Amino acid sequence: MTLTNVEKIVKNLKQSEDEIVINENSSQATYVRTVLIRKFPSTVSAGFLDTIDSLFEKGNIQVRTSLEFAPTKLKWNRSMKWKLKRLRNNLRNETETEMIRNEEVEALEALRGLKDAQFKKNAKLFDIWAYVKLSSTDESELNAATRTLVELLENLDAKVELFEKEQIQAFQQSLLINSKNKKGKEFLEKYYGLLAHDSAASILYPFIHGNIGDDQGVYIGNRAEDNQFTFLDICNPDDQDAKNMIVLGTTGSGKSFFMKVLAVGLMIAGVKVFVFDVDGEWKEICENVGGVYVDQSFQSGKYADPFRLLPWLEEVDKDCIQHNKERLQKSIETVHRTLELLTGGSVPDDEYNAIDRTIMQLHEDAGIEPNDTTTWDKFDGPKPTIHRFYEQLNIRAEHDEAAYRFKEKITRYFEGTQRKMFEQEDDQLLYEDAPMVVYHLGQSINQKDDRVAAVKMNLAFDQVWANIQHIKLLGEQYSAVICDEGQRLLFNETASDYVYTLATTIRKWNGQIILGTNTPEVLLKGGTKGGQGLWENTPIKVFFWMEESALTNITAHTNIPSEIVEFIDTQFKTNVFVLRYNQKYDFLKVHVPPEEEVLYHTRGLKKKAQTEFMEKAEEQRLQRAL
Ligand SMILES: Nc1ncnc2c1ncn2[C@@H]1O[C@H](COP(=O)(O)OP(=O)(O)OP(=O)(O)O)[C@@H](O)[C@H]1O
Ligand SMILES: [Mg+2]
Repeated sequence: MTLTNVEKIVKNLKQSEDEIVINENSSQATYVRTVLIRKFPSTVSAGFLDTIDSLFEKGNIQVRTSLEFAPTKLKWNRSMKWKLKRLRNNLRNETETEMIRNEEVEALEALRGLKDAQFKKNAKLFDIWAYVKLSSTDESELNAATRTLVELLENLDAKVELFEKEQIQAFQQSLLINSKNKKGKEFLEKYYGLLAHDSAASILYPFIHGNIGDDQGVYIGNRAEDNQFTFLDICNPDDQDAKNMIVLGTTGSGKSFFMKVLAVGLMIAGVKVFVFDVDGEWKEICENVGGVYVDQSFQSGKYADPFRLLPWLEEVDKDCIQHNKERLQKSIETVHRTLELLTGGSVPDDEYNAIDRTIMQLHEDAGIEPNDTTTWDKFDGPKPTIHRFYEQLNIRAEHDEAAYRFKEKITRYFEGTQRKMFEQEDDQLLYEDAPMVVYHLGQSINQKDDRVAAVKMNLAFDQVWANIQHIKLLGEQYSAVICDEGQRLLFNETASDYVYTLATTIRKWNGQIILGTNTPEVLLKGGTKGGQGLWENTPIKVFFWMEESALTNITAHTNIPSEIVEFIDTQFKTNVFVLRYNQKYDFLKVHVPPEEEVLYHTRGLKKKAQTEFMEKAEEQRLQRAL
């Protein structure tokens, strides 16, 4: 059912007796009854809701169970404490004539349990609504089915709400709980969900499709099951949780498409978006939204100089003070990292020291005194740059064998065929008015270019970082950094370590990182330490289809339920993804109007390579199936 279809149906709904009728005057009239499970048995097993499905396997009845989650902030304020106290007192003062009601005992236990979970286990609380929708073309059969359902649930010590007068609202609610209509809110206040902490909620989920969107924030996709629009609040400055995201999937599975839609959603929400674009596929969308496209690709010859210090910040808080103190050290690290990335491996100690001494000499020549911050930004001598570094390394190489060895490793980037790498310094740092800034960093044609893109990304990150800090100090605006082809940032230990540090500190600067990659290995055990840290500390994960080996690798390192893995495995060529958030899963797909869709397509060569890859993958799948 498409969304417009659903809307049309909802508009023409009519309640007759206790159910609603769809297509009333046609030969295909369908009767639908929606009920809500109001009370669950005290112990719910994973297959609980499946029992309902299996109840109506035979006959002319369709069943659809849907679970809705809404994160709840249960406040242990005075009225809640008072409630707990009253229940406790009632229990204590129970006499033979004044027996405490069963419901009160249950309420007390439930409240205690939630409080414990929230405080001792740091669990999140959820409101859960479990709707069961029965439909049939035969009205009497539907009535009989409803009775059977009520009986089953009552036998299990559960209870249903039948909505005798509010079938239309219930039907709508189970479809569009996330739509921001007020009517829905009133309805939910009357028929509140079951309050549970996350581990209880996860028993029901992920075995049933549900919705973990929280009705605020940014469009993240439509539910695969019923097309319901889903939003996630991933850029709320008041929220202290880091909302970084990892997007995984094989080439051509839809990662970039998804991230482009997400980027637009973020911009609509007022978030400033920075993108690292390796393949030049973000140009169209960037221009279309009035963004700035910064070409720092190899061909352009433009680069950000690693010696450049991040700007000094007004010391409005301790983060700014600390930042100011660390600026010189950070640039030294950037220089080391850049040089290491250029050689594509790790640097032996003696070569590292030769580099280090050259850096020190450059600082000295410029009058930079490490212990005196006032000397860092004005130069009494030649300004330190990567070119001056190479020049001085050459001089050192005449008497220092390690310096010579290292110089030989990087000479092609300064004097050889790769000298376009550092041809023209791009010293523009801040882009205040653009809603989106895209750094074009190279073309991925061969292995060497991988290295180029890694270096460029690392250097551009300093520029992005300066913008993020600047934005935070200007006001409340939030920033997001999208690293498409993020495996390049996780090139080796040093680079990954750097990205991991950025990911864990970006929240302080009101920012988040969204990292997409077709190479999950870089994030798992066996990959780099920084990559693993990133994986473990990223709360939101998105899985598109991937090859069996990648999927096996992920399941070996993460506790993803086998149902979810199987689901991912069936999403070949569908562009459907699994969203993992707060330990829960949802199945979604982004939908955009056709005139917008053209902006998100990957173009030319890349598309051809993707098609070829997908054809090969399909062949392999077929062979496996035979
Ligand atoms: N939700 C969608 N709706 C319509 N088309 C889509 C959708 N998602 C992806 N596509 C199509 O699939 C193509 C490939 O998707 P995309 O470029 O996003 O893959 P990718 O995962 O980023 O691949 P790579 O790892 O090679 O960069 C897109 O050009 C687009 O045509
Ligand atoms: Mg892509």
